[in-house]
Amino acid sequence: MDIIIIKGGKPLKGSVAVSGAKNAALPLLFSSLLAEGEHRFDNVPLLKDIESTELLLNHLNCETQRIGTQMKVTVNQPESLVAPYDIVRKMRASILCLGPLLARYGKAKVSLPGGCAIGSRPINLHIEPLRQLGAQIEIEHGYVIAKAKKLVGDRIVFDFATVGGTENIMMAATLCKGTTILENVAKEPEISDLARCLRSMGAQIEGEGTSVITIEGVDELKPTDHRVIPDRIEAGTLLLAGAITGGDVKVIDCVPSDVDALINKMTACGFEIDTGVDWMRVKPCDRWRAVDVNTAPYPGFPTDLQAQFMALMTQADGTSVITERIFENRFMHVQELVRMGAKITPKSQVAVVRGEKAGLSGAQVMATDLRASASLILAGLATADETVVSRIYHLDRGYEKLEVKLQSLGAQIERCSV
Ligand code: EPZ
Repeated sequence: MDIIIIKGGKPLKGSVAVSGAKNAALPLLFSSLLAEGEHRFDNVPLLKDIESTELLLNHLNCETQRIGTQMKVTVNQPESLVAPYDIVRKMRASILCLGPLLARYGKAKVSLPGGCAIGSRPINLHIEPLRQLGAQIEIEHGYVIAKAKKLVGDRIVFDFATVGGTENIMMAATLCKGTTILENVAKEPEISDLARCLRSMGAQIEGEGTSVITIEGVDELKPTDHRVIPDRIEAGTLLLAGAITGGDVKVIDCVPSDVDALINKMTACGFEIDTGVDWMRVKPCDRWRAVDVNTAPYPGFPTDLQAQFMALMTQADGTSVITERIFENRFMHVQELVRMGAKITPKSQVAVVRGEKAGLSGAQVMATDLRASASLILAGLATADETVVSRIYHLDRGYEKLEVKLQSLGAQIERCSV
């Protein structure tokens, strides 16, 4: 088991590049199942979740080959159309193979992903739309068992702007008979990246980034060569690392407009943030105001930056009310931050953070989920004491060598095996 040890308390300085987006790469890799042949993806991050995706693609008779951050995926006729529990349980996003397999091969048996630390993570908004497109779907013995001679396009209105649901149905609709109109869809940058990739495969798709996506089904798609967009959540996390240490950090190879909501909140706190086409820079600031945050679907404040922003608010002047509106249990980092001296009162979906500069002290803390891990590291950077974060396998699911990136900015942080 690895741990991360941090001795913080000093301003980070310098430039740091962002890796490819985990939450774009996962659906993109699964979209390759829509077309046999050799696909190439660039800027694929080196993450545990990507390894889990490779495992599942290999199980589905695809060959995968990594050359640095390039991934070649050669899709062959699968011998089995089953995504087994022992693979899916490692990564919930495996459910994204359902739409492509069903649309391409007419059937699929995918283990229910199950919940995780942050919530029950249901998939009704994946299943119901597929039924509406003509699939027969049963849930038996922990598996989704789906069949469809030929999916037929329809008008689908999502109850909620679900990211994964939008992605699964988008992929399925590319091979439907006729037109599919998706309404109340997610507008995240990862959705737009997937739409661009599907279009490069020959899909007729438009409207991504808006609330309505229209897809004209085609008979078949062809392999693609696509570059994954930068990871906006990693970019925001690195910007917050500069901010919480009162440092001067330039995040490069990113898309500042993808984190507009974060930049607006940090500016409201009193930070000066400069931006360019593919970079953003937080300037030194030693006192900042507390601001309230409500997480929301894009372009609202991302739930995936809530825990990291909460760490910043523990050092703010004033009280911040943070409301988590996306997941039902995404305050697992609160108790660990409180163990470091933070003054946070969680009440169901709302956490009240009474900021106190230099109010944190180093401690042994435990990561509980991916973004909570990043929040604890940011808090460790804010105190000169030593902080030890355990269970950092959570971190490795979604951040590529975060401690190395922070070391390059002058952080005293190291990974040790215990
Ligand atoms: C994606 O998860 C991301 N994961 C999450 O990132 C991110 O937090 C989330 O979108 C919201 O932005 C990937 O892209 C791999 P949702 P997803 O479907 O697709 C409810 C990270 O840290 N819901 O938009 O699972 C659900 O319970 C991870 O990188 C249903 O009720 O998110 C939740 O409350 C964490 N029924 C809300 O919608 C469904 O069928 C948002 O879920 C599906 C979702």
